[in-house]
Amino acid sequence: MTRFARISGTGSCLPPLRLTNADMVARLATAGVETSDEWIVERTGIRARHFASDGVFASDLAADACRNALDAAGVSAKEIDLIIVATSTPDMVFPSTAAILQHKLGIAGCPVFDVQAVCSGFIYALTVADALIRTGSASKVLVVGSEVFSRLLDFNDRTTCVLFGDGAGAVVVEASDTPGILATDIHADGKHAGILCVPGHVSGGHILGDPLLKMDGQAVFKLAVGVLEDTARAVLAKAGRTEADIDWLIPHQANIRIMASTARKLKLPMDKVVVTVDQHGNTSAASIPLALDCAVRQGQVKKGDTLMLEGVGGGFTWGSVLLDF
Ligand code: UT7
Repeated sequence: MTRFARISGTGSCLPPLRLTNADMVARLATAGVETSDEWIVERTGIRARHFASDGVFASDLAADACRNALDAAGVSAKEIDLIIVATSTPDMVFPSTAAILQHKLGIAGCPVFDVQAVCSGFIYALTVADALIRTGSASKVLVVGSEVFSRLLDFNDRTTCVLFGDGAGAVVVEASDTPGILATDIHADGKHAGILCVPGHVSGGHILGDPLLKMDGQAVFKLAVGVLEDTARAVLAKAGRTEADIDWLIPHQANIRIMASTARKLKLPMDKVVVTVDQHGNTSAASIPLALDCAVRQGQVKKGDTLMLEGVGGGFTWGSVLLDF
């Protein structure tokens, strides 16, 4: 019998501190940096974002998201046999955030690792989980996207600091006789590494290079709209489905204009697109599972719906997962 991977529960976590655009305008003004609610809403669709307090790490947000996902799936942490965390803001250089998360969930023994594919990280992690479940290497997997991007922001750079937020989303993925995940499609092109990066690194007890986020927004925008269409068409072809089969598009939540462009190209009305960028900003690897969990809990996404998840980001990386929920 063919073995498939199926999402059996979703969960998420947002740190309590919520900053509206007005809060960001006030905060930036203290450093003499000018921005406005109008600019941020018109160019990005973002109205608010959450920031984690000092001392709260990606593993903390991940742990809460995982507990919610485990509850939703009716699975106990002890049954989990693999944890994959997608993050670009790990608690430490090493060990992995997944290892720290495993201990916070009160379990031990199962394999755990982080995936680093920036805003495409959750798509990469879900793709790996799907492959390991299909081959029989794992049966009940926690796939998590968790980020504290606020730690990487340069609050003197208005072109980036208003865009990002913190949060986590998690799914339990289980082996199943029925799909589940229908097809996956992931890509990268490292020649674009410089257009979205945190160039600094640790060396000899010091940080060498700039440890804050740098982005050429227009270059990222142009690449994103192209590859998101390509990967959507590729994953549909792999699954033998068409745009008409998609009940919900759940894209990486970076910019409402990129999301609208993808929807237009796929001939999907905006009421089939899950939008949380207005309330969360760009939470990098967390954005897709966070949006998925919100849509499930708000009753938008229902059992049996066909979902197109799409990510794009630093690397340059991109990809998609088509699944029956
Ligand atoms: O998560 C990975 C994926 N990331 C993305 O998908 C991000 C992709 N890029 C974008 O979303 C957009 O390029 C941005 C939102 C980053 C920027 O939007 P844009 O329409 O490309 O604006 P721009 O960079 O062309 O800037 C237009 C103007 C500039 O002023 P001048 O030179 O025309 O006078 C900027 O200085 O807007 C100015 N500007 C701002 N003004 C007020 C830039 N940031 C701000 C700001 N507030 N926060």
